[in-house]
Amino acid sequence: MKGCTRFFILSIIMSFVNTLLEMLIPQIIRQFVDAVIGQAPFNVPPFVLSWLESLGGAAYFRSHMWLVALLIGSLALLVGIAFYATNQTNSIAAEKLHQNIREELFAHIQKLPFAWHMKNKTGDIIQRCTSDAERVRIFVAEQMVSVVRIVIMMGLSLFFMFSMDKRLALIAACSIPVIVGYSMFFHSRIGSSFEKCDQNEGILSTIAQENLTGVRVVRAFGREEFERKRFEKQNVYYTGLWVSLMRLMAIFWGIGDFISGLQIMLILVLGSIYCVNGSLSAGEFIAFLSYNSMLIWPVRQLGRVISEMSKAGISIDRIMYIMNSPVEEDKKDAVSEEETDRAFSGDIVFDHVSFGYDGSVPVLEDVSFTIPAGTTFGILGSTGSGKSTLMHLLDRLYDLPEENGKITIGGIDIRDMKVQDLRRRIGMVLQEPFLFSRTISENIGITDRNMSMEEIRNAAKIACVDDAITEFKNGYDTVVGERGVTLSGGQKQRAAIARMLTQKAPVMVFDDSLSAVDAETDAKIRHALSQSLGDSTVILISHRVTTLMQASCILVLDKGRIVEMGSHQDLLARMAYTARFTISSRVWRRKPVKELFNI
Ligand SMILES: Nc1ncnc2c1ncn2[C@@H]1O[C@H](COP(=O)(O)OP(=O)(O)O)[C@@H](O)[C@H]1O
Ligand SMILES: [Mg+2]
Repeated sequence: MKGCTRFFILSIIMSFVNTLLEMLIPQIIRQFVDAVIGQAPFNVPPFVLSWLESLGGAAYFRSHMWLVALLIGSLALLVGIAFYATNQTNSIAAEKLHQNIREELFAHIQKLPFAWHMKNKTGDIIQRCTSDAERVRIFVAEQMVSVVRIVIMMGLSLFFMFSMDKRLALIAACSIPVIVGYSMFFHSRIGSSFEKCDQNEGILSTIAQENLTGVRVVRAFGREEFERKRFEKQNVYYTGLWVSLMRLMAIFWGIGDFISGLQIMLILVLGSIYCVNGSLSAGEFIAFLSYNSMLIWPVRQLGRVISEMSKAGISIDRIMYIMNSPVEEDKKDAVSEEETDRAFSGDIVFDHVSFGYDGSVPVLEDVSFTIPAGTTFGILGSTGSGKSTLMHLLDRLYDLPEENGKITIGGIDIRDMKVQDLRRRIGMVLQEPFLFSRTISENIGITDRNMSMEEIRNAAKIACVDDAITEFKNGYDTVVGERGVTLSGGQKQRAAIARMLTQKAPVMVFDDSLSAVDAETDAKIRHALSQSLGDSTVILISHRVTTLMQASCILVLDKGRIVEMGSHQDLLARMAYTARFTISSRVWRRKPVKELFNI
């Protein structure tokens, strides 16, 4: 709310001034008709009366009619200025609020744990950040000030009306609950129709979006006609919803006009009778009619405002769901960065680690192993065996519950480290790397904005992607297309490897990150990597054994359990001992160990 509260207060004050000035005009007309045109005395508070008398009373105004015109004209001008000021301050307040909501949501989402992001759908989060934030803005910009205005207007109109004629004022007052009730009833019905339209607009845009993002699949499978028909069907349905919503609106306004017409007619007829029999003056009657027409519109609006308020309430709840989700926080007694730094020269130990994502289905069961510092360690296992999960835990993308074992680096439990300190020291290349829609050099040098081109190219060379990049027309300045479509799967993986290499982390993880690279390039990259990794600890993860050949120790994982561990030779020897298969070195190189073990 920073920066917008004072604009809100200002807009409410200005709205008050605006309404008050507007309400004065019928009073001037009333006095003019009764005391200047007619012969009645001025019916105004004593201080105004003495001022009018000092000017020369009604007679003075009769000879200076232009003064009345000037008074009304200046009041109208002031009303206009106050209206402008209300709108201006109000829109500044609403836009600032909207900006704050967006800013705080974005900042909060950045700090939410990875597990939260996995649990919540991206589309839904985006909708909360856009449509819901927009609905709050609209409510604040359009409805909040009108609530103030409506309340002031109703209060003042009724005050003036009661002060002029109690009987007519009572009729006007009694019609308020009827009109508000009717309007609320209709608006709640219209509200649910609106929501249905919104949902179906969402479905329509999802179809369009999927067809744009999945254009290759649509073309490859010749689905154009099918997709067109699907879109057309949804489009027709969506149009129908709007037509029926508009019909509902037309009925609402029609009946609303009729009810308020009845009320105006009643007041007009009764007022005329009172006027004729002399219990109401002509000036009072004219002013009364003005107040009544001023009253009708806000009263009709009130029903709408109330139903909008409930919609805005739902949107606020949806936004607060994000804002109330707990962020990633370090322990209060977390170890210092220097200690973490020292710890990273030690071994990585998984100590009786068990884990399940939603608590019920175990993904890892009692896994214990040590990765000696500075070595290359291989993890082998089929898809779904829990390899990536091990790395999620190491990087604290998911926190390991206290009772499920522990992971230590250099003897320090990673839960005691600051999460940023930990992640900065673990470079990770994922199986499906994500590249931003920025230039290749920006993508590779993401860890440091001032990284030199030489450094970026060096990393790209080790990852065997430099040649491919220089062949692009714009070289390193090539902008990676939406979702990185201008790069092939293998090129993206290699760019991601280069990006990770620039991080110069003491621990580097390659999670199935060479799966889209051909065998020859795979070997070339491994060779280049082995030359440049220095004394970093390297964790190679793969379902392809060739990728792990240079690992000094290989751990074989199956369904979340360790089934084998040892050097490449150890594993071969053990398999030979079991004598279940005749394994030639050539086959071993080509086939995943899972197949060889028949597990
Ligand atoms: N975010 C997640 N939420 C729930 N289950 C998951 C999640 N990620 C992975 N899993 C499940 O955990 C198991 C192991 O997955 P993973 O560690 O990715 O295997 P691998 O990397 O060996 O292919 C799989 O059964 C998978 O379905
Ligand atoms: Mg994986």
